[in-house]
Amino acid sequence: MADDLAVQLVDGLNATYGVHPGHRAAHAKGVLCSGTFTPTPAAAALSRAPHLAGPAVRTHVRFSNGSGNPDVADAVRDARGMAIKMYLDGGATTDIVALSIPVFFSRTPADLVAFNAARRPDPATGGPDMARVGAFLAEHPETVPAVTAAVTHPIPASYATLEYHALHTFGFVDDADRLRYARYHLRPTAGPAYLSDADAAGCAPNYLAEELAERLGRGPVGFGLELVLASPGDPIDDPTAQWPDGRERVVIGRVDVVALAHDREVGDDVLVFDPTRVPDGITLSNDAILRARPEAYSVSVARRTSTAPTV
Ligand code: HEM
Repeated sequence: MADDLAVQLVDGLNATYGVHPGHRAAHAKGVLCSGTFTPTPAAAALSRAPHLAGPAVRTHVRFSNGSGNPDVADAVRDARGMAIKMYLDGGATTDIVALSIPVFFSRTPADLVAFNAARRPDPATGGPDMARVGAFLAEHPETVPAVTAAVTHPIPASYATLEYHALHTFGFVDDADRLRYARYHLRPTAGPAYLSDADAAGCAPNYLAEELAERLGRGPVGFGLELVLASPGDPIDDPTAQWPDGRERVVIGRVDVVALAHDREVGDDVLVFDPTRVPDGITLSNDAILRARPEAYSVSVARRTSTAPTV
């Protein structure tokens, strides 16, 4: 039975984006791909997690638009998502779920429910009530950086040319039980590339999926997976807080997206990405947003299908 807050979180998304049977309550439009993850030697020095020791593991990667409306046009200013599922020995999986903005909107699930209520479209205009949003932001200055990043988000040339950030902090535990806190970032091998407003105006509604299919036809799409290590005093439980520049950065692996995949988005095989699914060698911080996600995602899965979530 889902907890009340998880239901409120998904109700809030449904009220903002509408109810779209069969689709995710957020990130409804996306492209599923298959690929690999290959760790660097530096990864095993930071954590004893099995996929960080090598060899390469199989992955699914889903790129998505942030909206819960599956019919949203691609050329909009909004966060995009990149979710990675790594398949480990013995049938286990571990997930990294990231957004193309550098911080999250809220520190707590209750604040997120209130933010979603404040930005809900006004039935009279179909757009947000700017006075209501402004009043919320005045009371919640910690929400301003994420809102600014979303509304000024560049229109991507490709899902393959964005940087993605997993936003929460995780603990990385090595063979000697040494714990270091860090945040994941994904850097596109192709480098960042965006569209001008004029170019974006001429784009087809589904150009991001079409471009990705065409790009994969020419070869794999790569991302470097990096960890930025916390310095003493950096907030580790607050996804709205950016850390100062200059923190130690370690490249821990490479994600190669190889082909489009359809195998896990059809029939009864319900694919769900859950960032709290971590193996020995990685720990969760006490970030209240991170902790709220599995239950909210389960509510979304239950609503989009009658099947229980699988790994
Ligand atoms: C309490 C806070 C959050 C709530 C309530 C929430 C809600 C949701 C829901 C309902 C889904 C659809 C799940 C499904 O049906 O499989 C989703 C997907 C997603 N969320 Fe969140 N989310 C939260 C925080 C975050 C954060 C902090 C990030 C990034 C670090 C994030 C990134 C994503 C991405 C990339 C997807 C798409 C995953 C896929 O492709 O299946 N979310 N979110």
